Amino acid sequence: MSFRKFEDLNALCDRENLPMFAISQERIDQITALPVPNRRCSTYKKFIRVDRDCVYKGPYTLFEKKFYRELGNKFAIDMLCRKFNLPNINISIQSVLMFQYSIFYIKYDKVHSPFLVPRLHDHRDCVGVTVKMIEKIHNCLKVCDAEELLVDVEVRKSILQHLYFRYLLGIGDIGTHNILFDHDFKQVYGVDFEEMGGVRNPNTKLECLDKKKDSLKKKMIFEPYINSIWQPSEQELEEIEEDLKNYFIDSKIVIRRMKYFKTFV
Ligand SMILES: Nc1ncnc2c1ncn2[C@@H]1O[C@H](COP(=O)(O)OP(=O)(O)O)[C@@H](O)[C@H]1O
Ligand SMILES: [Mg+2]
Repeated sequence: MSFRKFEDLNALCDRENLPMFAISQERIDQITALPVPNRRCSTYKKFIRVDRDCVYKGPYTLFEKKFYRELGNKFAIDMLCRKFNLPNINISIQSVLMFQYSIFYIKYDKVHSPFLVPRLHDHRDCVGVTVKMIEKIHNCLKVCDAEELLVDVEVRKSILQHLYFRYLLGIGDIGTHNILFDHDFKQVYGVDFEEMGGVRNPNTKLECLDKKKDSLKKKMIFEPYINSIWQPSEQELEEIEEDLKNYFIDSKIVIRRMKYFKTFV
């Protein structure tokens, strides 16, 4: 799915109370001068630009599937958490920035690392452009790199619930590599909703929730809580059919995934 016209984006922003602002070329230049957190391995990947208190992802064009999904999938998870009254660890989107109706950036809250001033180095990108890159250890930590820091059981459960909703909706690139620790290591935030696809041939519940094969550490941290994931019934999913349709999600496929997950003990 992608936006078919500008009005579709406008309608989504209105529905989700998401402000959209027109920006100038100067502002784009400021955003593109900001440092990036990671190596971009292909031109197909969007840039993340890290500012003091926010992060930008883009540039997107209106009709790109990734643009719709990054917004729509995130808001669909918000909707599930709201409907079923469950904790939501999604990152917050502050606004959409638009240049001349053709270039768009998504502006997010920043997940803070313990380093107030990030250490930078020059990096030659995959297209030969030199960008300022943040030293790896100066970025916020991904949960997949330090699962043992998840000391709070409720946080572990909220991650499993979040990954389960990603699984139900068929959001791709699923796993703890897209969950970030805030600097105190107590709060976590789910990011990166633009892929679709889920996991190929999962053999366990945990494998449905993480495309990287279960590591021993991951099993120890999450497996004891895997059955505490709240799972909707078929009727509950039927009741939100219209809400799912708002995000172009077919409730029949969601129900199929819900049933498949239940086949694992
Ligand atoms: N809201 C955020 N706050 C701080 N860092 C972020 C945020 N979003 C993304 N990042 C950084 O950018 C990296 C890649 O982000 P992600 O959205 O997963 O994009 P990609 O499509 O490149 O995987 C993250 O691992 C993290 O280091
Ligand atoms: Mg990612």
